[in-house]
Amino acid sequence: MLGLPFEFRGERLRRVSITDMKDLPPVCDYEGSDYRTRFWEGGARAYEDRVERVALRRLMPQSGKTLIEIGAGFGRLADEYTGYEKVVLFDYSRTLLHEAQAQLGNDPRFIYVAGNWYRMPFVAGLFETIVQVRTLHHAADVPAVFNQLFRIARPRATYVLEFASKHHLKAMARYWTGRQDWSPFSHVPEEFVELNYDFHPRWILERLAGAGFEPGRMLTVSHFRMALLKKVVPTEILVALDSFAQLTGDWWQLTPSVFIRNRHVSPGETADPGMFFACPECQTALEASEEALLGCSGCLQQWRFRDGLYDFREPVS
Ligand SMILES: C[S@@+](CC[C@H](N)C(=O)[O-])C[C@H]1O[C@@H](n2cnc3c(N)ncnc32)[C@H](O)[C@@H]1O
Repeated sequence: MLGLPFEFRGERLRRVSITDMKDLPPVCDYEGSDYRTRFWEGGARAYEDRVERVALRRLMPQSGKTLIEIGAGFGRLADEYTGYEKVVLFDYSRTLLHEAQAQLGNDPRFIYVAGNWYRMPFVAGLFETIVQVRTLHHAADVPAVFNQLFRIARPRATYVLEFASKHHLKAMARYWTGRQDWSPFSHVPEEFVELNYDFHPRWILERLAGAGFEPGRMLTVSHFRMALLKKVVPTEILVALDSFAQLTGDWWQLTPSVFIRNRHVSPGETADPGMFFACPECQTALEASEEALLGCSGCLQQWRFRDGLYDFREPVS
């Protein structure tokens, strides 16, 4: 378990551990964490939740066939995806996905998949829309994540990414007054606590382009993320002001949270109808099955479907 010294984006990660896997970057493991109750319940982050939804609605196509949310956690944003025929909630934490299941009931549009974003268990060219909010800060190897997402995106797919920016006003004020030793202007990612990174917007744009995405519209979010402001100014007003200020995102980025809409612009392949899962180890397409085990004909590994959850974290031994 990590005993982390201070808050990141208001998240005290007391109940989060780091899982090391052979040949893969480490994972910030939320298994069994109280993320939902501790962080989102009680209304203290109503402002952040609301302004993130405003940005998401502005950038995400409202309807389509297939959408995946990467690091969906307990499904906080799942009610934004009602225009989609199939919605995959993908996360490393089985317990958070079970919380999402409990909240969303038996809605057949939702598919719950546990896995690691460095080994996505889907065939190439599957998703029309990819959403990733509040998770990239746990990625030690961002290019590897972007490459995986590019592979599973269809040609012309939309990828809406939110990331934690180091280039924001509070960080600048702390830096200029000597209360912070790292520079918000340097493009190098800042790992200020193990497996928690802040990124520079330019660095993220370069990595997205490097993976094949074409970055487009940017929105800056959470201009008023200050405890005192949130206490004295009604949430409605802060949300209205932030919604307006978000529109400056294409010109300057000075907030702790930035959203970017990206497009998959290369020719690429589109998944055959009926193809969905692929072995995370060898990428062989897995046959649809009613069984509790999905077998890979390529590397002969087996993957489990249990309690409504496809589990690709590790093969059945
Ligand atoms: C701060 S939570 C955000 C959850 C959700 N996106 C939200 O905004 O409510 C970060 C999430 O990223 C997931 N995560 C971290 N590393 C991951 C990985 N390697 N693969 C898949 N999910 C991962 C965690 O399990 C956790 O649910």
